[in-house]
Amino acid sequence: MVKPMKLIDPILQFHNELQTIRRDLHAHPELSFEEQRTADVVAQKLTEWNIPIVRGMGGTGVVGIIQNGSSPRTIGLRADMDALPVQEINTFPHVSRHPGKMHACGHDGHVAMLLGAARHLSQQRHFDGTVYLIFQPAEEGGGGARKMMDDGLFTQYPMDAVFGMHNWPGMPVGSFGVTAGPMMASSNEFDLIIKGKGSHAAQPHMGIDPIMVAMQIAQAWQTIVSRNCNPLDAAVLSITQIHAGSATNVLPDEAKMIGTVRTFKREPLDLIERRMQEVARHTAAAYGAEIAFRFQRNYPPLINHAQETQFAIDVMQGLVGTDQVATQIEPTMGAEDFAFMLQEKPGCYVFIGNGEGEHRAAGHGMGPCNLHNPSYDFNDALLPIGATYWVRLVEAWLR
Ligand code: NI
Repeated sequence: MVKPMKLIDPILQFHNELQTIRRDLHAHPELSFEEQRTADVVAQKLTEWNIPIVRGMGGTGVVGIIQNGSSPRTIGLRADMDALPVQEINTFPHVSRHPGKMHACGHDGHVAMLLGAARHLSQQRHFDGTVYLIFQPAEEGGGGARKMMDDGLFTQYPMDAVFGMHNWPGMPVGSFGVTAGPMMASSNEFDLIIKGKGSHAAQPHMGIDPIMVAMQIAQAWQTIVSRNCNPLDAAVLSITQIHAGSATNVLPDEAKMIGTVRTFKREPLDLIERRMQEVARHTAAAYGAEIAFRFQRNYPPLINHAQETQFAIDVMQGLVGTDQVATQIEPTMGAEDFAFMLQEKPGCYVFIGNGEGEHRAAGHGMGPCNLHNPSYDFNDALLPIGATYWVRLVEAWLR
């Protein structure tokens, strides 16, 4: 394991306690907007450390407030709390107690790292201003960030900037990665219903076969990214479900296709949505079928702000050294609802290396230690690194 040089001693001293908290959360995963117990743990710890809290924002969200000195400057730090509907295959003692639910994205670790920072900040107070600790529900598709903002997160607690962090498997422990500008994609979903006319499978001429139409549309849609979009704009159009029919000798009335579209920019997204609609409508019409098309924009692209990104880079480099911070990482087509916060506030979202899975001993499922994998586990070696990053970020921002 890499030994980062500038970790904060008191944080290192409660590494074991943070690990206990992290593993307890791992054993009790809760899905989006159901993070009741998790919020209880967060609230109890913050209260124990004399940090005022507000609960119930965005459902189960918790905001901790640490104020010091007289400066009006403020900063928001955000951790997500929810788990995934995944059946864990690990067998270590802190394996999920809840069948079909698992902290397979490391949000248990994100909570523990922010708690570690909270404890240190409330005890040492080497800053002048106000820190808002944002414990957010429902990152995994529920848009918990948006819900907290709708409940007044930024109006009740004005923040000069917001910062987020996610563990990143495959990047070495003790390293960070970030890039200014687009870092994660927008996430959008569609469903298309093709309305044909059912018939006996032996008498296809009596009906309009929606399956044939679906196949034509699926093929034609794959020309949108390759033939309509600017090749310099990254975009993904994936059909992830096709449903039609229920018998070997019946041509169904309807076929349905569902999927996702990812882009970093607004223009290709507008183009793709428009072209999907046009291609589907005209193709269906050519065969005498009709369509109902729904396109929903879920998460916007995550765009890091240039100044705050440089600020975060300086802090990370001071912590782990210049060579351990990748400052222009390749963006990912994954999505993240912290993007909503970065649409309203300047800020920066970083990746912290979770390693290659070398932290996993006996009892792990030994599948790939990737996010959303049933044998994933957050690497507890990150707890003091992430917590120290948060503390140094606050101390620099609220100097
Ligand atoms: Ni995640």
